[in-house]
This record gives sequence, structure tokens and C-alpha cells, in this order.
Amino acid sequence: MARRKKIYEGKAKTLFEGPEPGTIVQYFKDDATAFNAEKHDIIEGKGVLNNILSEYFMQGLGQIGVPTHFLKRLNMREQLVRSCEIIPLEIIVRNYAAGTVCKRLGLEEGTQMPRPIVEYCYKDDSLGDPLVSEEHIAAFGWASQQDMEDILSLALRVNDFMSGVFYAVGIRLVDFKIEIGRVYNGDFQRLVVADEISPDSCRLWDIETGRKLDKDVFRRDLGSLTDAYTEVARRLGVMPNNPPAAGKPTLVN
Ligand code: TYD
Repeated sequence: MARRKKIYEGKAKTLFEGPEPGTIVQYFKDDATAFNAEKHDIIEGKGVLNNILSEYFMQGLGQIGVPTHFLKRLNMREQLVRSCEIIPLEIIVRNYAAGTVCKRLGLEEGTQMPRPIVEYCYKDDSLGDPLVSEEHIAAFGWASQQDMEDILSLALRVNDFMSGVFYAVGIRLVDFKIEIGRVYNGDFQRLVVADEISPDSCRLWDIETGRKLDKDVFRRDLGSLTDAYTEVARRLGVMPNNPPAAGKPTLVN
């Protein structure tokens, strides 16, 4: 008794046909994966938190004039978004060194970058999302020169906005990944920030203590991922009404 048509099932989200042409419903699952899905677990409540956090960031970006695919949140796990053609690139912005760049460039984790660095990976799980140069992107026609200029500008605006929002609540935005989509309007196309923006696709460290508040908690078995994401939502003042059950009960003094 399918209520609506499934369009795509990803690792952390499922996409369904939306109620009107040109719309899609994004359903946020509780699945967590890492190392190209070699590590997989169900983290109760993660989908609810990411749905709300992504709404918060996408709406905020909209407010400062950065176009996104977000239309509205439908319920605790679903949001309505504009359907777009995803450019097959993972756009990564790095403010501090962490993850693959440490190995690649021999940098110590936490080293501040001389300036925000934007990198591109080709979106292909079977290849492990390899790093690519703008030369590859142009030669294989994944994006035009004009697209690349617009993508760079969008990525840096998202970085400034998100860095500021997190800084205000004592969190360092170490790096993040976004995806960009094309929306067609007759013969014209415009680029929008698509997919999701959540602690699944960012590195977030507490400025005071260095505590990790992102998916590295899962990747490196550093404790409860729900607790970490709940802390992010709590600091930003966007905790859902029925917060997902956290780990163990704690004594209240
Ligand atoms: P990166 O350090 O390149 O990879 P890894 O997370 O495997 O060490 O990732 C930089 C940031 O981009 C990090 O916050 C995770 C995010 N990211 C994704 O969310 N999905 C991806 O497919 C990639 C390549 C990165």
C-alpha cells in the first residue's frame, strides 16, 4: 500500500515523489554509515535531529540570500524540497585540517588552513568519491566554468554563514561537505544548495574542550552520536519537541 513513489534510497535518506511536480520529499533515516558504508549502524533519533538541523541551516541560508532547494519541513522526519539535478561533485570546504587532508598533506589534525580551502570529489561510491581537479570537472563536462565560479562563491558563503552560526554557540566548523543542484526555469538554470547540511556532513569541535560533535563520534567510536547531535541542536536552540531518547539516563541533582 505504497503512499507515494520512492525515487531513490541513499545511505541516510530516502527520496519520494512530492505532492506537486518539481517537488521531492526527503525522509531522514536513522542509518549511520562510514568508510564507504563498511561501517553501518542504526542510531535512534539521528534522522529527526538531522531533519531539524538541516531545516535550520537551509532556512538561515535562504534568509541571507543563498538559494537552497529547501521548501518546508513536513514532519519530524520529512522535508519538502525542490527537485533538482545534482551536480556529481561533493564540495568540501576546510577551515582546519582533519580527515583525509591530514594524510594527504601530512598535516596535524586541527592545523588552521591559511584560508578556507575548497576541494571537489567526484560523487561515485564505487570509486570511493575520489578527489578531482577543476581540469577533470571541465574535461568530463560535470560542470561548466561559470558553474564552477558560482559553486565556489556559494561554498564560501555557506562557509561564512555556518562558521558564524557555530562560533556563536562555541563550536568550531572544521570542515563540511555540500552538494549543489541545478534548478531549471525555462531555458535558464540556477544553482542551489541541495541535499542536507547536518552534523553527518560537517566536522564540529567544541571550541573550549575540543569535544567532537559530528559523525567522527561514530566513525571513531567516541561515544553516543545521538548525545553529540542533541548537544548541537540544544546549543542552536532547535531541539525537537519530543527529543529522541539519548543514551543512558543521567542523575539530576
Ligand atoms: P574528508 O576529510 O575528505 O573525508 P573523511 O570524512 O572520509 O575523512 O571529509 C571532509 C568533510 O566532508 C567531512 O566533514 C566529511 C564530509 N564529507 C561527507 O560528508 N561526504 C563525503 O562523501 C565526503 C567525501 C566528505
